[in-house]
Amino acid sequence: MAGRRGALIVLEGVDRAGKSTQSRKLVSALCAAGHRAELLRFPDRSTEIGKLLSSYLEKKSELEDHSVHLLFSANRWEQVPLIKEKLYQGVTLVVDRYAFSGVAFTSAKENFSLDWCKQPDVGLPKPDLILFLQLQLTDAATRGEFGHERYEEKTFQERALCGFQQLMRDSTLNWKVVDASRRIEEVHEEICTLSKAAILSAAQKPLGKLWQ
Ligand SMILES: Nc1ncnc2c1ncn2[C@@H]1O[C@H](COP(=O)(O)OP(=O)(O)OP(=O)(O)O)[C@@H](O)[C@H]1O
Ligand SMILES: [Mg+2]
Repeated sequence: MAGRRGALIVLEGVDRAGKSTQSRKLVSALCAAGHRAELLRFPDRSTEIGKLLSSYLEKKSELEDHSVHLLFSANRWEQVPLIKEKLYQGVTLVVDRYAFSGVAFTSAKENFSLDWCKQPDVGLPKPDLILFLQLQLTDAATRGEFGHERYEEKTFQERALCGFQQLMRDSTLNWKVVDASRRIEEVHEEICTLSKAAILSAAQKPLGKLWQ
């Protein structure tokens, strides 16, 4: 309907929880149901900043920890004009990882407080819905070996999960925990139902600012 904004829907979760699988399926299902929906993913490796991040994740380059945290955040900020434009055009955006991954991963490093990690992302477009795909790390391990990228390591993933759990205590955000250990189609159905409700309610509300 004219004048109605789209919803900002984020998928988060530990590695191999099914974020990419489910984001793609969600966009297809929403489009098939007559919604306008598009997929975004972070990091967006296609930009200049994204290329630095890609090389860092592939361990082809080293970057200072604070500096790389700010680059991950900048990689989100550089998409904000596009995100706002799409949402105000009525397009729902399904986002595969967002600021929560950024904070969970850096705060898993030594000597980084959650609060410091959140600051660069304060004021980003606030998701209308954050789907946390919950999966035990032992179950995630059955979905294949870790890749060879940075952060793909058991102890680090455990620490990142603690970061996610702390972020989920924030009741100003619409977190929904989805049991991602089920079959792909079952998880998909629940995600669709939650997303359709979020699209309806977002249409009535102004877009918020994250952590602000
Ligand atoms: N519900 C499921 N049950 C079993 N296998 C699944 C399920 N969902 C996804 N998978 C499989 O697990 C693997 C990881 O899925 P996917 O890439 O979607 O996860 P991800 O959360 O995006 O991972 P990453 O954090 O590494 O990007 C893929 O091989 C996928 O086919
Ligand atoms: Mg993925």
